[in-house]
Amino acid sequence: MDPSLAVPAHVAIIMDGNGRWATQRGLPRIEGHRRGVETVRAVSRAARDLGVRMLTLYAFSVENWRRPAEEIGALMGLLEHYLRRELDNLRREGIRLRTIGRTQDLPAGVQARLREAEAETRHLTGYTLVLALNYGSRTEVAEAARAYAAAVAAGRQPAGEASWEHFRRYLYTAELPDPDLVVRTSGETRLSNFLLLQAAYAEFHFTPVLWPDFSRADLEAAIADYQGRERRFGRTSAQVEPAGT
Ligand code: IPE
Ligand code: IPE
Ligand code: MG
Repeated sequence: MDPSLAVPAHVAIIMDGNGRWATQRGLPRIEGHRRGVETVRAVSRAARDLGVRMLTLYAFSVENWRRPAEEIGALMGLLEHYLRRELDNLRREGIRLRTIGRTQDLPAGVQARLREAEAETRHLTGYTLVLALNYGSRTEVAEAARAYAAAVAAGRQPAGEASWEHFRRYLYTAELPDPDLVVRTSGETRLSNFLLLQAAYAEFHFTPVLWPDFSRADLEAAIADYQGRERRFGRTSAQVEPAGT
């Protein structure tokens, strides 16, 4: 990456490939998830060092409840363990933790840890780590539509003002900026129900690297890829990059 060029303010990552990483080594899938948690720590730190302001990590989708109960239980256990161990680090390093998704459906122990971490880091403004937990875009939109309709019915939301700027306030991401760069590891090139609307103008970077192997260098490569793109938001190239620059 080029330190003189703009770094994406908000990077969102679909952390994929934990299971394959483990299987390739003859290990149980949960070992891949365990290693994946270590990667979360390292990549979160690297992102902040590189000047990223917000990092959103897709950690558990609404569709992931379809996995074997044993794997789900292990994932929830890892999540609780991570939150318990990480709170001190978050505070020390000035990292605000937030979540998006139906966290109310997660195990009570996980919910308690999340509430604690969110409350104790809410004053930190330099860098934000957003965990997408029990997240799914379609569920998010359906819930937002319901809340929006209720607000219109109650007279809190003028019906004649239907616009994206109004509707987006009902999404889980109401207070978050849209991602500038979306990364997916493990070679899959799909969104799997992640930030479908918020990524409307994001740049995408797909890498074959499996999440447990994803390093600071891989993040730098993703940012370098981003820096080579021209974001036009509907305008022409000449409009966004005036001659002579
Ligand atoms: C991503 O790794 C972690 C979660 C979805 C929780 P996977 O568990 O999906 O790994 P693969 O895709 O099976 O290799
Ligand atoms: C997407 O990965 C969800 C997360 C990374 C949390 P999956 O591994 O669940 O996605 P699919 O099923 O391959 O599309
Ligand atoms: Mg996967």
